[in-house]
Amino acid sequence: MTKQTLKNLAIIMDGNGRWAKQRGLNRTKGHEKGAEVIRDITTYCAKHPSIETVTFYAFSTENWKRPKLEVEFLMKLLDRYLQKELETYQKNNVRFMAIGDIKAFSPKLQERIRITEKATSRNSDLKHILALNYGGRAEITHAVNTLMAKGKKAVTEADISSALQTPYSDIDLLVRTSGEERVSNYLLWQISYAEFYFTETLWPDFTIEELDEIIEDFEGRTRRFGGLS
Ligand code: FPP
Repeated sequence: MTKQTLKNLAIIMDGNGRWAKQRGLNRTKGHEKGAEVIRDITTYCAKHPSIETVTFYAFSTENWKRPKLEVEFLMKLLDRYLQKELETYQKNNVRFMAIGDIKAFSPKLQERIRITEKATSRNSDLKHILALNYGGRAEITHAVNTLMAKGKKAVTEADISSALQTPYSDIDLLVRTSGEERVSNYLLWQISYAEFYFTETLWPDFTIEELDEIIEDFEGRTRRFGGLS
């Protein structure tokens, strides 16, 4: 049997709050540890022979509903993370990209995101994408509106795929941590034929060893894309 090839990986990082609570810590500590895990997973993906993109759900359009202090902390953490990880991106030949409506962020944070995208734009071993103020329905709606603004009266699937923010139109594997089994408005168009993997592990405890096992599981699956095997 031929092995599946994993090119586009998407991850819903869930469980930071529960991880912190289990240790009697503030939720913010879970987010801090979670950010470190993103670095480890990105470095692993950059070295992986077939992975071309990894897209992390870092902040959804619904996350604004969280307490103001937590939202502010996440914004500051993102700014610190990008400053710190620029070295990791350069060292590992990783290109950083953001998807989502970042206009809702502070001008300083928007600038940090743009600077990091520009500084890494020539790196080619991996595209590391953070979904920021991202929602799948909003992305599809925006794509259709862009096409209509260009004068399209009827759109094809190929038109929509090409107007999305992601540099790919199909995710191969979607992983969600913490035992929750839902897609939470993530990459709705792109996951049409994705394989799903749900793990009980809380995101701050997620390791490259576990990802390795998940990829092995994925490689052994049969994907029929609606046809017969
Ligand atoms: C879910 O945990 C996680 C998020 C809100 C998004 C992921 C955020 C990070 C990994 C933090 C840092 C990210 C960057 C890019 C600096 P949760 O808070 O929903 O956990 P819970 O369900 O246990 O409460």
